[in-house]
Amino acid sequence: MVPGASDTTAALNHAPAEAFAGDCCLTGGLPIYRSLISLSVLLTLITVILSAYIRLAEVGIGCEPWPACYAQLDAELEKKGVTVLTTQGQDMAHRGARIAHRYIASILGVLVVGIFVAALRRGAQRTVGVAVPTAVLLITVFLSLLGYYTPTRSNPLITMGNLLGGMAMLGLLWWMMQREAEQIEENAVAGRWRVWARVGMAMIALQIVLGGWSSANYASANCPGLIDCQPELRVADIPDAFNPARDIALDANGKVIASEALGLMSMTHRLLALLTAAYLAWLVRALKSQRELGATLATLAAFSIGQLLLGVSNIWFALPLLMLTLHNALAAGLLLTAINLLHRLSPSAGSVPPPSPPGHHPR
Ligand code: HEM
Repeated sequence: MVPGASDTTAALNHAPAEAFAGDCCLTGGLPIYRSLISLSVLLTLITVILSAYIRLAEVGIGCEPWPACYAQLDAELEKKGVTVLTTQGQDMAHRGARIAHRYIASILGVLVVGIFVAALRRGAQRTVGVAVPTAVLLITVFLSLLGYYTPTRSNPLITMGNLLGGMAMLGLLWWMMQREAEQIEENAVAGRWRVWARVGMAMIALQIVLGGWSSANYASANCPGLIDCQPELRVADIPDAFNPARDIALDANGKVIASEALGLMSMTHRLLALLTAAYLAWLVRALKSQRELGATLATLAAFSIGQLLLGVSNIWFALPLLMLTLHNALAAGLLLTAINLLHRLSPSAGSVPPPSPPGHHPR
């Protein structure tokens, strides 16, 4: 039994953003600083979705005839580490997405530098530690270098760097935005539930890693049925399936050679998704008496159910490009909602617990 699971009736103390609007000294907020962060959150979300769309289109997700055209790379270009478009991919309507991605990412780079400088200048008035804007800046530099120097599709670690870097940047900016917008007071109930919210966030992050790993290794076509993989799953393949340094081998025509471990990657992602959904359902139920968390919990539940249905539909309809892109968008949505929950359960710097009424001992 989770400590305090039965006691979720005490109100959480937090003040809405409006309470601080125009008051620079309570949260130390400068309108331009806040706008920079909000705009960056929006642009990062768009970039994450565009990047998923481009990546999936280029490796042939949704191509015809499926799955023969999938995972068809150009062996010569791959050796040189150059971006590879499948023959089918070149004809796909994602050129606009590439151009939009390039411009938006460039604007984002400038905004992130602006946020970093502004955050440093705010000193003690910052609502997050300096590590957060610094991490955002470092991830931005990492992503630009990754995109510029290693645009290849045959190294799963590079694909993972791209996917996880984008999600991490989005999550950190979103955390900054919320800490700026709302002052959260310490509260005994929130204190007890923080750790469980962190576990939920970690499970969602793990799901993103597993889904990305499966996709980066071209496992998508190996389990066409919901729980039916070809060839059959073998425990002996676990070390290969989850070896971070595993290679992707191409045949003479540039087609990715399907290894026996691929099914394990897909199935781990799918089965752990059930565990994640069950955990989130428990968390939502346990916190439902906290009225202030109503919108966050409803969003978490809706996204979790939506992601389950979308995941199953992806398999049912043989991975349509837009549907798998939407799966990425919903993964981002789940992550942001879990971060929002954590934010609402985490006191702002300098907040003090409200005095307990005489004779009351919070558990
Ligand atoms: C918490 C829930 C989930 C999250 C956060 C999540 C996240 C992801 C992510 C980030 C990807 C990578 C997509 C890409 O490469 O762009 C992915 C791939 C995929 N996901 Fe999920 N997913 C979840 C649940 C599910 C469920 C319930 C299913 C189906 C039962 C599913 C089926 C798939 C499939 C088929 C792929 C393509 C790669 C593969 O074949 O393994 N996902 N997921």
